[in-house]
Amino acid sequence: MTQDELKTLVGQAALYYVEAGSIVGVGTGSTVNKFIDALAAMKDRIAGAVSSSEASTERLQALGIRVFDATEVDELAVYIDGADEIDHAGYMIKGGGAALTREKIVAAQSRQFVCIVDESKYVATLGRYPLPVEVIPMAARRIARQFAALGGTATLRLKDGVPLVTDNGQQILDVTGLKISHPLGFESQVSQWPGVVTVGVFAFQKANICLLGTPDGVKTLTF
Ligand code: 5RP
Repeated sequence: MTQDELKTLVGQAALYYVEAGSIVGVGTGSTVNKFIDALAAMKDRIAGAVSSSEASTERLQALGIRVFDATEVDELAVYIDGADEIDHAGYMIKGGGAALTREKIVAAQSRQFVCIVDESKYVATLGRYPLPVEVIPMAARRIARQFAALGGTATLRLKDGVPLVTDNGQQILDVTGLKISHPLGFESQVSQWPGVVTVGVFAFQKANICLLGTPDGVKTLTF
């Protein structure tokens, strides 16, 4: 089975967690796109969605799914999103699609985080995938030095040869060379550095459930 087929499988499996009549939290990325496409089949049975990016909003709306602003909703029953890595405790690295800040906000607004990934994302220790960190541009160089002191190498993410600008008007550093053995402590520490908007470790907003796409079918992990 190809990686794309595994993504389709978990995207469809996530429909099980969507309650009729509810507003569903929707993440960002190629796996979530599969979920959004599957969600279109039940669009008349949900009230709509809260989206974590302009890209997901566009896709949802194009399929006729109403998108609410996060401020219009108190609490969401479920948030469905992919990840770049997930470990055995449900801690994740996210932000490969540069949407980590809004993803963390919508996740924090949700009672349950259902993570949908293919099995290549399931790791023993976070850190193989370059850690995305959204930063205020004037702080980027200093933050890069702070990561260097932890043994990491931070690189400014580019798009079309110029610094990528996030949906929030900020920049992304991708940090390699880190081994994140204590995700809660790491997230606490880096979140306090001046100029860090969001660090792509999701430990406080970890997954409650992971739908893992494998050649033998979807495995459900609970944390
Ligand atoms: C976007 C994310 C995505 O969930 C993550 O990058 C996984 O994406 P994909 O499903 O395309 O592999 O965090 O900011």
